[in-house]
Amino acid sequence: MPVRPHAEDPADVLLLGDDDTPLARMRLRDDDGTAVAAEVRPLPEAPLTRLVVQVRRDLAGHRLETPDEALAAALVADGLKLDRAATDMRHDLTDVPEPVVLPDGWSLGAPGWDDDLAAGLDAAYGPDHPDGRWQPGDTDEVRGMFDTGEPVPPLVPASARLVDRDGRSAGHVLCAGPVPWTDDDCVWILNLGVAPRAQRRGFGRALLVHALRGAREVGLPSVGLSVADGNPARRMYDAAGFRVLTRVLTVRIPAA
Ligand SMILES: CC(C)(COP(=O)(O)OP(=O)(O)OC[C@H]1O[C@@H](n2cnc3c(N)ncnc32)[C@H](O)[C@@H]1OP(=O)(O)O)[C@@H](O)C(=O)NCCC(=O)NCCS
Repeated sequence: MPVRPHAEDPADVLLLGDDDTPLARMRLRDDDGTAVAAEVRPLPEAPLTRLVVQVRRDLAGHRLETPDEALAAALVADGLKLDRAATDMRHDLTDVPEPVVLPDGWSLGAPGWDDDLAAGLDAAYGPDHPDGRWQPGDTDEVRGMFDTGEPVPPLVPASARLVDRDGRSAGHVLCAGPVPWTDDDCVWILNLGVAPRAQRRGFGRALLVHALRGAREVGLPSVGLSVADGNPARRMYDAAGFRVLTRVLTVRIPAA
């Protein structure tokens, strides 16, 4: 792949055209075996049509993530699929809300994974969810975090399970941090979900506040998350004081 390091920021590389003209800057990383070209930003003088050709050839097989709407639109116009349109958000921890008082009999318990939680999340991520249905692979990923600490171990003080009056899991917030896929040392919310039977009663917000307070307890400076376009949870994050960090538009570049 024709790239060279960015002169001012060694973490970035420049994607070069065949005549060595820089066309875009980006960060290359490996996400558990998936090659990722992240934060792909076209340079102002680079023609998008040329960049699209170069990306399809030189980033074949990569997952491309860009904040640039025009680049994503050009790739889609060239026949590729927009896999996910999302917003990365952050909440700093100078001022965190008081814990939410739960209704009688409900509590926040130690984080973990069980069949009730799996069933609740399966129901919460229905067929119309902007991130798609909950998949067996999602369960494997959560289990892996608890069982082997892979790809990242749960950050226990910022994570919790929502427990109902009968002692059954009805939702959770699962955090890790710092995580390798962000530049900043934030606590990352990997998953926040409440079973439909318990939704719209303030439990989502209670779990979110728990994550903020737990993150402050461990001394990291902020909490981050990614929310897909069209997810009503966005209203909860805005109301809780999360701010937009960047857009993340994801396009898979087919293997050559
Ligand atoms: C997002 C989720 C955790 C919210 O849980 P919840 O217990 O219903 O949340 P709360 O009752 O604390 O609601 C908090 C606010 O979120 C917003 N909200 C949550 N769900 C909403 C919906 N379906 N429609 C509109 N607003 C909604 C509202 O602003 C709500 O405040 P309000 O009830 O005062 O209007 C839950 O809907 C869920 O599990 N969704 C599926 C998984 C998911 O998308 N998680 C977030 C990934 S980024």
